[in-house]
Amino acid sequence: MKDLTPRKEDLNPIEIASRDEIGALQLKRLKWSLKHAYDNVPFYKASFDAAGVHPDDLTTLSDLAKFPFTVKQDLRDNYPFGMFAVPRDQIARIHASSGTTGQPTVVGYTQTDLNVWGEVVARSLRASGLRPGDLLHNAYGYGLFTGGLGIHLGADSLGLTTVPISGGMTQRQVRLIEDFQPKGITVTPSYALSILDEYAAQGLDPRQSPLEVGIFGAEPWTNAMRLEIEEAFDMHAVDIYGLSEVMGPGVANECVETKDGLHIWEDHFYPEIINPETGEPVADGEQGELVFTSLSKEAFPIIRYRTRDLTRLLPGTARSMRRMEKITGRSDDMIILRGVNVFPTQIEEQLMTVKGLAAHFQIELSRPGRMDKMRILTEAAEGFSGNDDRVHAAAELAHKIKSTVGISVKVDVSDPGGVERSQGKAVRILDKRPKT
Ligand code: DLL
Repeated sequence: MKDLTPRKEDLNPIEIASRDEIGALQLKRLKWSLKHAYDNVPFYKASFDAAGVHPDDLTTLSDLAKFPFTVKQDLRDNYPFGMFAVPRDQIARIHASSGTTGQPTVVGYTQTDLNVWGEVVARSLRASGLRPGDLLHNAYGYGLFTGGLGIHLGADSLGLTTVPISGGMTQRQVRLIEDFQPKGITVTPSYALSILDEYAAQGLDPRQSPLEVGIFGAEPWTNAMRLEIEEAFDMHAVDIYGLSEVMGPGVANECVETKDGLHIWEDHFYPEIINPETGEPVADGEQGELVFTSLSKEAFPIIRYRTRDLTRLLPGTARSMRRMEKITGRSDDMIILRGVNVFPTQIEEQLMTVKGLAAHFQIELSRPGRMDKMRILTEAAEGFSGNDDRVHAAAELAHKIKSTVGISVKVDVSDPGGVERSQGKAVRILDKRPKT
């Protein structure tokens, strides 16, 4: 793999500013953001008033803990445009979540917001090792999902040549990678695996592909998966994080030279980690739920938004801004099986260590009697689909899960291609338990 470390002189100076400078900018912007939300969004006025706090009560960054949280339901209750802080005709762009778990949540951006979004995504792409003039194959979905268009904005802002292929039509993805010779690919890690399969199906060697870096996000993925993808494509794999409610992709990104967690672009998004049960902030380094407050957004200011994503904050390394560790999972995706908490990433971690299994999997939950049961649906890697190989691999995975995670599971290994493929975010959990 080539060294893709960006040149220091190409970074935005704030990325490597002193902590004092970053803190001063955050405080100034946080005061503005709280006031902007309070003055212009009835929801925030009501929620601050109910909690007995006023934007003037914030004199230090830690005073933020006095302010109430915002949760997804608040956005749903204000559907579609009730959380906007500027008149509708000043909104330049609307995005929305898919709404698979309920009413879609709608977010908006002014032109200034889009410029900021472009800047933070450009930073993310640069941190990943791309430079002006490089070619980018953007396979995140275009549309209401923020992935495709968000990356596109940043690619324009950095000065890349963008191939806006979006998700799907996997044969064509491979064809255009081979024909156009992109240096970078932006895609969900699970869809990257589908592209990898397609290389095999076409009899092509992915290690000979032109790709030098993949920028993967929109769903949890493990360091074990990173190694698998890096080895398969002979390219760097870095993590990009974001969520529509806060902006979209580009809230945080790993640096290609360190790959040690994601630097949060803290000059625009203020992070906190809280204890999800008590709501109390915890110290840097401690695990908990990630909470974000926007510092500069005009159209859709967001105050103390509970992301449900679990991680911890770490000091800066390649940049001065703090890092978040790779996300363990969403609290919504935590499975409690017979008293043990399990995240799909823990299953992924074990799966990647078993020879003979492909990296595709789903977790099926059922309740045949009174007890919940977990079945792992995975598949044989190419060349390992003989019956003995499969039985052996299934037993090994079940054993590893039992000894590391502490739960008994059934493992079913299908033929290669047997597990449903994603073209965007993978569906990891199939919950077949009766609804209570
Ligand atoms: O997934 C934005 C995005 C697009 C990020 C492309 C990165 C790349 P939403 O659809 O609103 O936005 O989903 C946000 O996805 O709260 C996390 O649970 C999850 N997520 C996003 N990035 C990561 C990541 C986009 N790098 C939700 N690791 C978030 C783990 C991630 N989970």
